[in-house]
Amino acid sequence: MDIRFQAGGASKWKADAVISFVFEGEDAEQACSALIQNALWLGIAPAWRDFHGKAGEMTMFYGPRAMEISRVLGVGLGKAEQLDMTAFRYAVGRAMRQCREYDLAGVGLDCASLARVAEKMGVALDVLVREAVVSSLLSLYRYERWMSRKSEHEDPKWLAVMCEGEFVENEVRSAARMAEAEAAGIVLARDLANDPANVTTPSAFADKAREVAAKYGMNFRVLGRAELEAEKMEAYLAVARGSAEEPKMAVIEYAPKGVEGREPVVLVGKGLCFDSGGISLKPAKGMEEMKGDMSGAAAVLGVMEALGQLGGGNAPARPVVGIMACAENMPDGHAARPGDIVVAKNGKSIEIVNTDAEGRLVLADALAWAQENYKAARLIDIATLTGACAVALGLEAAGLFCDDDELASRLHEAGTALGERNWRLPLWTGTSLKALKSPCADMVNAGQREGGAIHAAVFLQQFVKEGQVWAHIDMAAADNAENPINAKGATGFGVRTLLSAVWDKAEDVLQ
Ligand code: BES
Ligand code: MN
Ligand code: ZN
Repeated sequence: MDIRFQAGGASKWKADAVISFVFEGEDAEQACSALIQNALWLGIAPAWRDFHGKAGEMTMFYGPRAMEISRVLGVGLGKAEQLDMTAFRYAVGRAMRQCREYDLAGVGLDCASLARVAEKMGVALDVLVREAVVSSLLSLYRYERWMSRKSEHEDPKWLAVMCEGEFVENEVRSAARMAEAEAAGIVLARDLANDPANVTTPSAFADKAREVAAKYGMNFRVLGRAELEAEKMEAYLAVARGSAEEPKMAVIEYAPKGVEGREPVVLVGKGLCFDSGGISLKPAKGMEEMKGDMSGAAAVLGVMEALGQLGGGNAPARPVVGIMACAENMPDGHAARPGDIVVAKNGKSIEIVNTDAEGRLVLADALAWAQENYKAARLIDIATLTGACAVALGLEAAGLFCDDDELASRLHEAGTALGERNWRLPLWTGTSLKALKSPCADMVNAGQREGGAIHAAVFLQQFVKEGQVWAHIDMAAADNAENPINAKGATGFGVRTLLSAVWDKAEDVLQ
């Protein structure tokens, strides 16, 4: 679906349907003050009798066919003081899905109505435009690649952001462009994670990364088994040993004009294309979900895609490096055994007591490699790392681990504002190192279940150098969802938060 703009007020607007937002108890004049000037019929449309603007309510108002605007989709938002951003996003998502259901080709977004919502919510109009556009695009996402019976309804061809002024304001335009880029990144991440493990293999993932890099003229390289061996990344290699699929660590470097020589932001994603658990095999129930254990790496690639789409017009002031550590964890005669000891790239030895705690092994080496190759302004990793994190925070939040208060609050604020909620958890180094003590190596790879997300984070911390600004996001719970802006399956969680973190200040994200 194309994102367009229409300026000049309602007399210039044209669409098969216009989406307008209505708070509880409002009438047409209040909710659609701009629109009604060129769609007089709206004031007397009979359907208002049974539409009250309650949360979740939605009604199509019809005017005479010959009018430029003859359909208005009224979307109820309930009581203004109870409306939050999630509810707003879902309302937009339901509206867009309804437009698709009705086979409407061109849909308008009434910014006058939106401005009123923004004011009531205490945010700027461009913030709401960004959320509305992103939600529209995400709500229409479907994963139907393998269905022989596709859905009968096609997506609307375009969504027009309809502005009252003579020109489209720059803030609104760049908010919509940002939303488009974010959605493109998320869609890419969702596709990769929804694709099964026999499709998104480590090599296929790396090829996709190469494709993204080539499309936007970014640097690309990939480390296969031989290169990982040469780099002495034994922990990473141990995970892939039981798989017929070669491990691939894909690296994309994006250096916008004028940032040469500046310290990059480095993003590292866990890319387990399938996690069977290895010799410490997982139970059968739900194991298919582990095709999505590469969601961290997918989010990193999604960020690179979004940056590519944004281009020079809105580029960060630093290079951005995306490292996608892909591998497959399988049981086999060559697989790592519980009790095996490996030496990671930074020289620390690890006793693998549980081959299902594989993400941290891959990330340990990827983080060490990242620091040897880049002096990062900030290093952020994202991973579907521990079931314990889901137990701690529920299914709609990620754990955030970060000793740098400034970066931690940036990431927390961003995640909260962007619908990718995260919650800070402690790096209690002392207790976790006790839990990770090994009788025969520097550490084991898995401590006790209690506090498992923290132990995993502290494990990773052992591969981060003193003084390196670093954050770890455990998104194990948030990689799947089903809601009005997320067809059942992968979420693309992390793309928006990480993308926003490549700019040095939150104010710089929208330019
Ligand atoms: N990929 C899993 C974590 C996971 C679980 C992600 C559920 C998404 C949904 C990870 O590799 C894993 O197996 N972690 C173990 C660690 C344990 C063995 C210390 C876990 O959480 O059980
Ligand atoms: Mn595992
Ligand atoms: Zn895993």
